[in-house]
Amino acid sequence: MGTGFILGIETSCDETAAAVVERGARTLSSVVASQIPTHAPYGGVVPELASREHLRAIVPVVRQALRRAGVALGDLDAVAVTSGPGLAGALLVGITYAKALAFAQGIPLIAVNHLEGHIHAVLLREQEEGHGQSELEREPALALVVSGGHTHLYLARPEHGLWTYSLLGRTVDDAAGEAYDKVAKLLGLGYPGGPWIDALARCGNPEAVPFSFAQVKTKAHLAGKTPRTKGAKTAPIAKLDPRFLFSFSGIKTAVLRYVELHRMREEAEARALRVMADLRPPQTREEARALCSQATLDLVASFQHAVVGDLLKKTFAAQENLGAGRILVTGGVAANRELRERFAAEGLARGVRVAFPTPALSTDNAAMIAAAAWPRLCAGEFAPQDLTAEPSLALGTSA
Ligand code: KG4
Ligand code: ZN
Repeated sequence: MGTGFILGIETSCDETAAAVVERGARTLSSVVASQIPTHAPYGGVVPELASREHLRAIVPVVRQALRRAGVALGDLDAVAVTSGPGLAGALLVGITYAKALAFAQGIPLIAVNHLEGHIHAVLLREQEEGHGQSELEREPALALVVSGGHTHLYLARPEHGLWTYSLLGRTVDDAAGEAYDKVAKLLGLGYPGGPWIDALARCGNPEAVPFSFAQVKTKAHLAGKTPRTKGAKTAPIAKLDPRFLFSFSGIKTAVLRYVELHRMREEAEARALRVMADLRPPQTREEARALCSQATLDLVASFQHAVVGDLLKKTFAAQENLGAGRILVTGGVAANRELRERFAAEGLARGVRVAFPTPALSTDNAAMIAAAAWPRLCAGEFAPQDLTAEPSLALGTSA
């Protein structure tokens, strides 16, 4: 192996990202071009616009990643690219470009599952912070991937240098990030909703509205059916332990009902018009209060408190069930402040190590893709020449 420099490319959704990572352990550069301004007026990702924006951004983003890393194309040992899950047209932009680069340089192309990438965002941070590598390489971990497209619990096991994953639980409908985005939209807040709700929740009473989550029932009609998430087609839900299943579509409806019952719709509609031009969530209490009534702030705080509480309860139930000594929490929602605080506190109380990516690597990026590719490069696991996009690629096996 030469330098161990891997160029990672990620275009699965609405960020065009490239990064150079050395031996899966040191980030030399990480560039993310966000498409938020493009999709914000629609309150969600528009697939056609995403592909077009990726096409526009891919060349400058890769160039910038190489320049910031101080690495020439000729110094690279491999190109890694997200092959799924994600939007087909968006994935194809990254895959096609990565293929061409790898072919021209005569270096291997490595395909990475986006979800495995999120898990490696945590492992990359641990390596960079110098935690004993041998200990980390031996110990299995419970991984919660919680993003706009996924809410999945895996057992991640290192085996002969490669990681294997078994699915323990997942959402049966919306992902947690999707619930954040939908609730933000119905309250007239900005897009994506997570950072807005995160910021506003600090100014509300989390116990004002008692939202509750019942255990998800694995009804017979779910057996064998592909769940209707943006995510992956994985094992039939009925085979998973119901204690580790999530459902976030109910709370969105409950928020909607609350808004209607308490006549908060007008306030939300007026706010939506004001927020349209605003890409940045409020930074201070004064800004939050200027934008929202106390009733709205309380509702937002209660929503977040309930969602984080449910993620916490089920994740630690799985941890206890497995006797896992550590938990990795990753994906866009793992950037959330309340989530980080409560998971860290619960871990401390139970003597379980809880690790997160750096906030910047919680949301989509390419450093995590380059990091996940390193064990594959070592094992000689390369992508076939006819690699194509797999929009519903699943990760691992079901336990
Ligand atoms: O991982 P990610 O960038 O893309 C996917 O793979 O889906 O996650 C994006 C999701 C969005 O739903 C966004 O609202 C949510 O992560 N998010 C947050 C926060 N920052 C981003 N949710 C809660 N709190 C945050 N601070
Ligand atoms: Zn993601």
